[in-house]
Amino acid sequence: MTRESWHTRLGFILAAVGSAVGLGNIWRFPWMTADNGGSAFLVVYLAIILLVGVPGLLAEFVIGRRSQRNPAGALYRLSSGSKSWGAVGLFGVVTGVVLLSFYSVVGGWILRYFLASATGSYFGEPGAYFDAIAFGPEAVGFHVGFLALTALIVVGGVRDGIEKATKVMMPAIVVLLVALAGWAISQPGAGAGLSFYLDFDAGYLQENFFAVLGSAAGQALFTLSLGVGTMITYASYLGDDHNLAFDGSAIAVLNTGVGVLAGLVVFPLLFATFGELTGPAAGGGEGALFVGLAGAFSQVPFGRALAMAFFGVVVLAALSSSISMLEIPVAYLVDEHDVERRTATLALAGVVLFTGGANALNPGLFGFVAGTLVDLMLTAGLAGFLVFVGWVLGKDAVEEFSTGASPGVRALGPAWLWSVRTILPLFLLGTLAVNLLALAGIGL
Ligand code: PHE
Repeated sequence: MTRESWHTRLGFILAAVGSAVGLGNIWRFPWMTADNGGSAFLVVYLAIILLVGVPGLLAEFVIGRRSQRNPAGALYRLSSGSKSWGAVGLFGVVTGVVLLSFYSVVGGWILRYFLASATGSYFGEPGAYFDAIAFGPEAVGFHVGFLALTALIVVGGVRDGIEKATKVMMPAIVVLLVALAGWAISQPGAGAGLSFYLDFDAGYLQENFFAVLGSAAGQALFTLSLGVGTMITYASYLGDDHNLAFDGSAIAVLNTGVGVLAGLVVFPLLFATFGELTGPAAGGGEGALFVGLAGAFSQVPFGRALAMAFFGVVVLAALSSSISMLEIPVAYLVDEHDVERRTATLALAGVVLFTGGANALNPGLFGFVAGTLVDLMLTAGLAGFLVFVGWVLGKDAVEEFSTGASPGVRALGPAWLWSVRTILPLFLLGTLAVNLLALAGIGL
């Protein structure tokens, strides 16, 4: 059986942007930004995207395209059958399942807010509403609904499922977000939100450098879908004619653009409604986006329609990411164990039904998985991939990097390999250490 592949170059780019753009941009990014000093966080985050994110993305692309395999099969084969490297790849496959187990719960919340926007049932008491629906049997129900939508697309396969779906979703997301941002910025009082978000605050950064660095790094990996093997898997469906560096930069720019755009919706709206970051929105936590924006939508004309538009966008963005999480273990079963795509998808959805259900019933578990565990797994995972590319693939990696690239880009190959070998894994291991220390209660 021939392996699947993308139909068009744009199809691949949009699918990868679809994976990158998701709850990470719209739900996690404003929350992290609000918790970490606004503009100070934004600056560090953008720097990490550029200096660590883009080279890291290219490392995953190189592994995927060269091996034409899922992460576990890719590292195993490219290392000529090393079981230990295979295990590093398998760690990514497992991370995909862990990610989906919390992501699908949040996806369920979004689905519920989208439906509830029609009647505005959460407008009266936004805080109490979120507390009532976030965890419990109903949350399990919505998680299952979101998971079913995810599985439905993945069963369709690479071209007819993922590529077709993301080609419609991505333009829709951008158009709706631009319209919403224009509206949010024009609200009276929105200016304070803009300056919180965009005026650089050097003092804050100086005082909280390590905390800002740790969360900005975790967020940068999460938003670019790095450290799991999603980008390995997506690039494994690529041919040699692609300029990986060009595609990678386009993906990073588009993803960052949508993230910044989401901030232009969320912050002006929060400040226009509350005058400052107060209440639940200021305290951070997983409910910030929901409670803050629900409050805002309840106070403006056409609030229900605007809320439906907003949560509709978020459902699409979440789905185009969740499919990329499920695709990793599916590709693993299809490639390595000859399981049929449909069977693999159903079996894995069955597993996530339970692991996600546990998260939907237990707020403590959810918080740990969505925050700490994910940060640690992504950082460790990407460090593993980089060391692999830098030290095992070495010159072959530069060759793969150069295939399909323009001469200007090819000239960057050696510098890229050097960074992948040295400073980037060191940076990630440093971040991992800071995060582990924070977990042990030791702040720097
Ligand atoms: N990047 C996605 C988001 O921002 C999340 C994601 C992480 C998807 C890792 C796949 C792999 O929502």
